[in-house]
Amino acid sequence: MKLLAGNWKMNNSLEEGADLMEAIVEGLSAQVVGDVRVVVAPPFLQLPQIVHGLWENAHIAVAAQNGHAAEGGAYTGEVSMAMLRDAEVDAVILGHSERRQFFGETDQDVADKVKAALKHQLIPIVCVGEVLAQRQAGTYLEDVWAQLHTALNGLSGDSLSDCVIAYEPIWAIGTGEVATPAQAQEMHAYLRAQLKATFGADDMSIVYGGSCKPSNAEEIFAQPDVDGGLIGGASLVADDFIALVKLLNQA
Ligand code: 13P
Repeated sequence: MKLLAGNWKMNNSLEEGADLMEAIVEGLSAQVVGDVRVVVAPPFLQLPQIVHGLWENAHIAVAAQNGHAAEGGAYTGEVSMAMLRDAEVDAVILGHSERRQFFGETDQDVADKVKAALKHQLIPIVCVGEVLAQRQAGTYLEDVWAQLHTALNGLSGDSLSDCVIAYEPIWAIGTGEVATPAQAQEMHAYLRAQLKATFGADDMSIVYGGSCKPSNAEEIFAQPDVDGGLIGGASLVADDFIALVKLLNQA
């Protein structure tokens, strides 16, 4: 499945978020979208207005940027998967490198969140990726697989087909430095083969993230094992996001 997701991160007021969504919805006719699954991931407080504004538009799914693994209780400041589902959210980004780097999330935390998300019928968008030192040391394939293996541990091939994997090399996030199409393809093909060999999962979407924009996406999306993108900066510019959907549809 082709998938393009916009991770809005911690940006925009309610009004700005609504304006951005309106511009995106306007630009995404059924023809532009084609067979691409389009997802937007606004900050928590913007989720209700984005979900409800979209009732008329079946082409766009809504994701949260995080969720807590526990069902509920004394977890000040957190939002549970059940609450996200109750708010009619479709998916949840889990294990983003910024969550790992700034909030100390471990692979095991991500694994717990993936299970909780699946339990509440949310599509987990599971993020993995290496730092520059791991790439330079030549251990990036094994290192990223170790992250993903732990995050998905204990799941069946069937439940994995409800998950999306996002490969986001940390050295490419927000830096303007994008992985080459060959680097993306190498990692995606490796992860796909490992997922099949380990879990028997062979129909998972694996998307690329990290400084992906209309000027560099065409070649990346053309790679056989790249099923789409998880977009940060360029997802905040409606025209760029729409252009990326078009490029993916044509890929
Ligand atoms: P940028 O596209 O801004 O590099 O961010 C990528 C990302 O982190 C998406 O989750």
